[in-house]
Amino acid sequence: MSIMRRVIERVAQVLPDRQQDELPSARRYLSQPVDRLDGIDKVTGEARFSAEYRVQGLVYGAIAFSTIAKGIISHIDTTDAEKAPGVIKVFTHLNAPPMKVPRSFSIGAEPSVGGSAVKILNTDRISWNGQPIAVVVADTEERAEHAASLVAVSYSVEEAVTSFESAIAHAHTPKDVLGESPELVKGDPDAILRSAPHRVDLTFTTPPYNHNAIEPHAAIAVWENHRLTVFDTSQFTAGGANSLADIFGLKKENVKLLAPFVGGGFGGKGTMWFYNQLCAMAAREIGRPVRIALSRKGVFRIVGGRTPSRQRVAIAADGSGAFAAFIHEGVTAQSTDNNFPEQFSFPPRHLYAMQSYRIGQQVTTVNRVANTFMRAPGESIGTFAVECAIDALSYELKMDPIELRMRNEPETDPVSGRPFSSRYLREAYAMGADRFGWRNRPAAVRAQRDRGWLIGQGVATGTYPVYRMVTAVRLRLNDDGTVVVQTSCQEMGMGTATVQTQHAADRLGLPLDRVRFEYGDSSLPWAGVAGGSSQTISVALAVQEAAAKLVKELLSLAGKNGNSPLARADANEVQPANSGLFLKAMPAIGETYVDILRRAGRTFVETDVTTGSPLEIMKYSMHSYAAQFCEAAVHEETGEVRIRRWVGAFDTGRILNPKTATSQFRGGIIMGIGMALTEETMFDDRTGRIMNPGLAEYHIPVQADVPEIDILYTDVADPYTPLGAHGIGEIGITGVAAAIANAVYHATGKRVTDLPITLDKLL
Ligand code: MOS
Repeated sequence: MSIMRRVIERVAQVLPDRQQDELPSARRYLSQPVDRLDGIDKVTGEARFSAEYRVQGLVYGAIAFSTIAKGIISHIDTTDAEKAPGVIKVFTHLNAPPMKVPRSFSIGAEPSVGGSAVKILNTDRISWNGQPIAVVVADTEERAEHAASLVAVSYSVEEAVTSFESAIAHAHTPKDVLGESPELVKGDPDAILRSAPHRVDLTFTTPPYNHNAIEPHAAIAVWENHRLTVFDTSQFTAGGANSLADIFGLKKENVKLLAPFVGGGFGGKGTMWFYNQLCAMAAREIGRPVRIALSRKGVFRIVGGRTPSRQRVAIAADGSGAFAAFIHEGVTAQSTDNNFPEQFSFPPRHLYAMQSYRIGQQVTTVNRVANTFMRAPGESIGTFAVECAIDALSYELKMDPIELRMRNEPETDPVSGRPFSSRYLREAYAMGADRFGWRNRPAAVRAQRDRGWLIGQGVATGTYPVYRMVTAVRLRLNDDGTVVVQTSCQEMGMGTATVQTQHAADRLGLPLDRVRFEYGDSSLPWAGVAGGSSQTISVALAVQEAAAKLVKELLSLAGKNGNSPLARADANEVQPANSGLFLKAMPAIGETYVDILRRAGRTFVETDVTTGSPLEIMKYSMHSYAAQFCEAAVHEETGEVRIRRWVGAFDTGRILNPKTATSQFRGGIIMGIGMALTEETMFDDRTGRIMNPGLAEYHIPVQADVPEIDILYTDVADPYTPLGAHGIGEIGITGVAAAIANAVYHATGKRVTDLPITLDKLL
């Protein structure tokens, strides 16, 4: 354990418990299904995405990608490319200016977000098949793309490790996994497993997956002297701006990254993926604004995705179903130039009571583009293995799979021993089972048929941690009674701006239309990455603290004026309501914000706050939970799998906006259906090249693949989180692949342990 970690643990032990937030009792907007404030702009095309800004004198960049996985560029010839029509400049490693490598991503600590240490266009070394080797700038995008195809290159090829399966033999234990111990052991699980009356021991594999947000990655870079402005599709504006400052040796205040609208991120827009860096480089060199918009294929070549994994889950149980031994171990892959051993072994650290365990993971290295965050990295693939193994054990025990899970519900966190801040998984299962009609499910496999289809029902638990990031907010109250809330956070379609506007309006007792939430601009007060499902509560706490500070300031202004009814009031005696501050004891007595500012002769009052570190997560085991219910049909002759029904019951603290929340949960489940049934990045192991780089051959679920999805939630406030809420962006995908595999088993009696569950595996 690091010294810092030990200090934080000590501080956490003496922390007072967080007080329940006294949000004004008049909660008019939070908990209501408020429509997205940006909805009209999006459906009418008013919302501008990164590639769509109209910039004077804009020219276009296109990237040429390497076609080998490892080696040295021995010769590169740009003559034809330079002579092609419309070409302004061709950059290769021979003429690109030196650029620093940004510091790598690390949650909560480093403000930079490098995804890989490869020195793009500053080296002749190739580290993966798809690495940018040239950037062509031309007067149109088509001409740039054409010229990029004319760059002629020869390589001195070196032997590459392109196959995950063959790299597994060289796996090693990483120093840590996302700051946690790579392996945890209690007792002797192997011995217990050997002599256990009931056991399962299964190996699971999951393939690599690629990011396919609706908006492909794109940037426009504009230089004015030494100031850089970049429109970039980002889920971390401040981190991206810091990285660009690192790369080009600029002062942070001279870089501005703007991303007011982002068409989905899912983790694929949290770190730097070269196109934005190359765009800024080219713009500076030629002295004109440049745009680089990746094609779908370009995204596959240079933006990392989810690691493949091989996982073993072995569980020993006594006759009552109690877990006597629990083993979860395995390997993921990362690239030669990054450090991200995806945390698949996290779920069992918090889900089940276990007498003994060994929970850990290893990592191996391949010559592929750096892997990265993808919606619930770790928990998505980890729950697949764990929840399928538990399902298998339930048949071994002849016990209902929900009952088996409930018998192993822990009192406190099974590994850390810390109390849970809030855990209502039992309630989620009860709600979900009731809605799904679980009691009508026959216990036996292959027991339901419908005109050539075998039908089955499966369940699985989903889980995701509660994270919170240090966040700053500026709150400005104007003399017309409007409020502006500013923070550099991101809106990728989740409803961030809507929910935070609801929150600020309730917090200050204002109508919704009196609040403007400004975000998506790195020059605003610091907000962390829109990742780890952390953004909502992180920003909420900052808004809460800024509002409290504003109230104090308004009271001190009022106190300077003997005629104000608030002149002698104390902060805890007043509450914001009806566009002003009023006495709690006598709600008719008080003043509007407009009046307070007018008496004080002020045009505005502004407060800035930065929240503290999330010490509460060192003190409590803080997680979200889901009970996922799936009904699947498997065609007896073709092996085709259809998802027929879905119920997801979530325990994620208070739901702040049922409309946007339901949409988040559904989106996660749909992404999980793709992960389970159709998505898979195919590598040619001879060359390390991705062979299905596009939506024609990489199949994400479409409307016809998705049934009606029923969403339920416990809606119980977590007393230790801002607004009692949890993040909900990632929990939706967790448990989904397992629930599907378990339903397929129930339908067919075939246990598929290798994702995706394609029809060949069922015939
Ligand atoms: Mo999420 S994978 O942290 O964007």
